[in-house]
Amino acid sequence: MNVNNIVRKVYPKLTPYKCGLADLPVEEIKAVLGKDQVYKLSFNESPLGPSPKVIQAMTESLTTLNLYPSSAGESIMQKIAEIEGVCSEQVILSNGADEMIILIGQTFLEPEDEVIIPKLSFIQYLAVTNLMGAKPVFSEMNDDLSVNLDDLLRKITSKTKAIFLCNPNNPTGKILSKTDLQDFLNQVPDRILVVIDEAYYEYAVSSEFETGVRYLNEHKFLLVVRTFSKAHSLAGARLGYGIGTLEVIDAINHVRPPFNVNAVVQAGALASLEDIEHRQKAMALNHQGKKMMYDAFESLGLPYLKSNANFVCFDTKVDSNVIFEKLVEHGVIVRTLKGYGLDTYIRVSVGKYEEVLAFVNSLKEIVTQE
Ligand SMILES: Cc1ncc(COP(=O)(O)O)c(C=O)c1O
Repeated sequence: MNVNNIVRKVYPKLTPYKCGLADLPVEEIKAVLGKDQVYKLSFNESPLGPSPKVIQAMTESLTTLNLYPSSAGESIMQKIAEIEGVCSEQVILSNGADEMIILIGQTFLEPEDEVIIPKLSFIQYLAVTNLMGAKPVFSEMNDDLSVNLDDLLRKITSKTKAIFLCNPNNPTGKILSKTDLQDFLNQVPDRILVVIDEAYYEYAVSSEFETGVRYLNEHKFLLVVRTFSKAHSLAGARLGYGIGTLEVIDAINHVRPPFNVNAVVQAGALASLEDIEHRQKAMALNHQGKKMMYDAFESLGLPYLKSNANFVCFDTKVDSNVIFEKLVEHGVIVRTLKGYGLDTYIRVSVGKYEEVLAFVNSLKEIVTQE
């Protein structure tokens, strides 16, 4: 008798989160590589750090850590509802967007269900589908690596329970246009849950982008997922949220554990929502970094995808592992898209000026020596 005899049937399909070099904290990467300077551009983290007002609010909250936090985080729910023009019952908080994705699975997915996921999208949609024993159905990408909504619609069957969309999409940084999204929602049967993950929505620069929140009246079971990990620079504190139609939020609230969002991040998030100036600084930094990367890719003749997020994908035109390893030698850590079957592509997060400069200069040196 070993543990395989007592775990759930889905166990063989589950894999622990891998901790390759790209996943380690900077200090550990430095130790592994024996380098004083490392530029970690693999996690799409905000390079700016949280706003000083957020740090102050979080520090003040420490004195009452003996007390449980608000179990649902009402103040933040209300603030988000006010900003988004919805009622607070349409908002739900989670321990990072990752927990929201798990809660969606636990609330809605049964083993007989099919879940449609674009082939090139955030990996956790597949993970939660497997966790619940449901069947993942992958939709094709267009040639330009955008989501093929027509194929997604074709993949709908009587067994389809949910569809996951990521907008802007990780790992491509591409968006679905307003009209495409609206047309799509109009064609999805009412009984299907549509999840739109907007972890990167603050970075969307295209006028063609529209948040799914604007479409809450157009689809019965719709949920928009957001996070404080990116534009709010609070990845380490773990706070995500959902904005959805009333029935969807109520259903997830039957599953959400009480006190799933800690008191410190609740205090910080409120301060962060108020600090628009800090977020604008983060956006300006992101814009500048992307421009530096685009210029470099163009001068090197490397195809890249214009991004509506805080990362950029580019085609190395060779085996991406070769470029990845050489970048590591320069202390620059990025992500290959090998796991998605894109053997020549790399995704690089937009860091601080000096981090982007290190990446750009290293890439130039590597590519011109190839
Ligand atoms: C598209 C997308 N959704 C959700 C998440 C998870 O975010 P969180 O840190 O809030 O769990 C990420 C993290 O990178 C992401 O890229």
